[in-house]
Amino acid sequence: MKHNELGSSGIAASVVAFGAWAIGGWKWGGTDAKQSVDALQAGMDAGINLIDTAAVYGFGLSEELVGEAIKNKPRDEVVIVSKCGLRWDIETPTLHAESEGKRIFRTHAADSIKYEIEQSLKRLGTDYIDAYLTHWPDPKVPVEELVVTMESLVAAGKIRTWGMCNSNPDDIAIALKSDSFSINQEKYSMLDRQQDVQNLPLCTKNNLAFLAYSPMAKGLLTGRIDKNREYAEGDQRIGDPRFSPAALEALESIMKPVKDIATARRMQTHLIVLAWTLQQRGVSHVLAGSRSVVQAKSNAAAGSVELSEDELAAINEALSGWSGFEFEA
Ligand SMILES: NC(=O)c1ccc[n+]([C@@H]2O[C@H](COP(=O)([O-])OP(=O)(O)OC[C@H]3O[C@@H](n4cnc5c(N)ncnc54)[C@H](OP(=O)(O)O)[C@@H]3O)[C@@H](O)[C@H]2O)c1
Repeated sequence: MKHNELGSSGIAASVVAFGAWAIGGWKWGGTDAKQSVDALQAGMDAGINLIDTAAVYGFGLSEELVGEAIKNKPRDEVVIVSKCGLRWDIETPTLHAESEGKRIFRTHAADSIKYEIEQSLKRLGTDYIDAYLTHWPDPKVPVEELVVTMESLVAAGKIRTWGMCNSNPDDIAIALKSDSFSINQEKYSMLDRQQDVQNLPLCTKNNLAFLAYSPMAKGLLTGRIDKNREYAEGDQRIGDPRFSPAALEALESIMKPVKDIATARRMQTHLIVLAWTLQQRGVSHVLAGSRSVVQAKSNAAAGSVELSEDELAAINEALSGWSGFEFEA
């Protein structure tokens, strides 16, 4: 397993992280606690030390399961990323989403973040979080104010470093004034390349870690989803046009070289997908969502795959002919 530093924080973390959204169950058709803890432990046994969770994942459940999985481990053997700024227990002026009977609101207000971190620390069963990220921007709180809040958490020893998800170059430029700001986390995969021209150049220039989320496009790029796949009730992929039979067929042009390389190397398709993602300029880590022992172990293996120039070129050629899904144009 390769490791990269989280920006200039001095924290080394496995390039493949355990993405802990799905084990929270919310938007993924439910979860099984034992299977989730086993998956987290299998991922760690396979060399993953970076775990990405958030308060809102399963409304606290994902953090609790992470806490359970790490409780007998020396604390410094794991690097925990968690997120704040999405509240389902209070109302604020900014509604983020309505889901499963809950209304989720955004806020970066200092008192809210200071309340949230205490809840997250309790659920995780730890006295510090390695990297604390805002989950979505809050239009009501200036980034300058957020910088002060996050620096106060660093000074208090509650977090070691901080970052922002779903952000933009203007906000990142302000956050860069904070010495302890070191991470940007964005959606990035073969199918989601907006960050090539948006945040990735800025991250590269300023030595920020770039954590690619949904690198397998929620499972679509694993090569294991076909038109007969059935999803549990509440799974966000039900009705998502990206998972329709027509979209799966359209994807074959991209997947062909990926599958050919996987076959030649006797590897599973998603390993090639994760390795390609990690080899894109500026990408420091991939957050691979896992919810079983088999998935966690196999995703960890991507941390030691290196694609050759020829293999990258073959994939990139297919991607250059891909203009996106018609319904997203
Ligand atoms: N900051 C943010 O706003 C944000 C947003 C989204 C995600 N994230 C982070 O990024 C992580 C990953 O993103 P994601 O979960 O959306 O998508 P992903 O990693 O692209 O895909 C995860 C899904 O792919 C399937 N899968 C995973 N490993 C597999 C394997 N080895 N073989 C076959 N199928 C496999 C699983 O679904 P099935 O088994 O059900 O098919 C899994 O739930 C999240 O867990 C979270 O930590 C952050």
